Amino acid sequence: MQKRKIIQVVNAIRTLEGGGFPVRRPFPIAGLLDVDPFLLLDHLGPVNWGPGEGIGAPDHPHRGFETVTYLLSGEIEHKDSAGHSGKLAPGDVQWMTAGSGVVHSELPSESFMRDGGTMHGFQVWINLPAKDKMISPRYQEIPASDIPVAHDEDGLVSVRVIAGKALGIEAVIDTHTPIIYLHYTLHPGGSVEQEIPSDHNALVYVVSGEATLGINKKKLSEGQLGTMSTGDSLLLKNADNASQPVELLILAGIPIGESLVRHGPFVMNTDEEIRQAIEDYRTGKMGVIEQ
Ligand code: CO
Repeated sequence: MQKRKIIQVVNAIRTLEGGGFPVRRPFPIAGLLDVDPFLLLDHLGPVNWGPGEGIGAPDHPHRGFETVTYLLSGEIEHKDSAGHSGKLAPGDVQWMTAGSGVVHSELPSESFMRDGGTMHGFQVWINLPAKDKMISPRYQEIPASDIPVAHDEDGLVSVRVIAGKALGIEAVIDTHTPIIYLHYTLHPGGSVEQEIPSDHNALVYVVSGEATLGINKKKLSEGQLGTMSTGDSLLLKNADNASQPVELLILAGIPIGESLVRHGPFVMNTDEEIRQAIEDYRTGKMGVIEQ
């Protein structure tokens, strides 16, 4: 067994997304374009909106990859061009395979707009290999109560297993290629060794607190992302004298290793496929949302 070390640390940039809501974005940025097969990580908020102030992402398309939305606080309603709609509450996960294309909206729910509140969550974009880019769109919607939670023996560490496996517990979500998506909470003094198969690319993102990570004991704090050397596992620790818990995400997957052409909400293998995606969107082939 070889333990991974943290090899690159990046600070999330702050930017606005969708209709103008604030996100922290550790990638893609100038110093880290992607972590194959992961294309993007957006940390939405936490942001407090008053009544009527909430902002989301009105109608927009996607083609060629998957979007995974995981909400910690607030409420988001989504609707798409295939007539699909649903609501995300705290702890819920939506795993959307855009495949050949959807047009969808992701907006604060009616009750959130009325009352205001705190919006906090994440969106991850996961690439699809060339052979799967044009598959039919698919949704997996998992309510918080169905996301398995594992605890270590001393009760100082818990993990929400969104995809993959942690502390012996398997996720309920079905992924195209093996993907690990974990949300760890480490109380002061908590530590754990997370298995990550050696053929996976992996990253860790600190949501809050200060974590000590990898065999090289790198300290990462809120808004920092670390990439990893190869190995079979990652050591995670929150210092014994820490003043707060550590919340962090681990993402890992088998790299696709194909050419990548990105154009906003379209991620394909060639320029020609991007031109086709733009054309298909313009001519309504990805559909429109019924109002
Ligand atoms: Co979207």
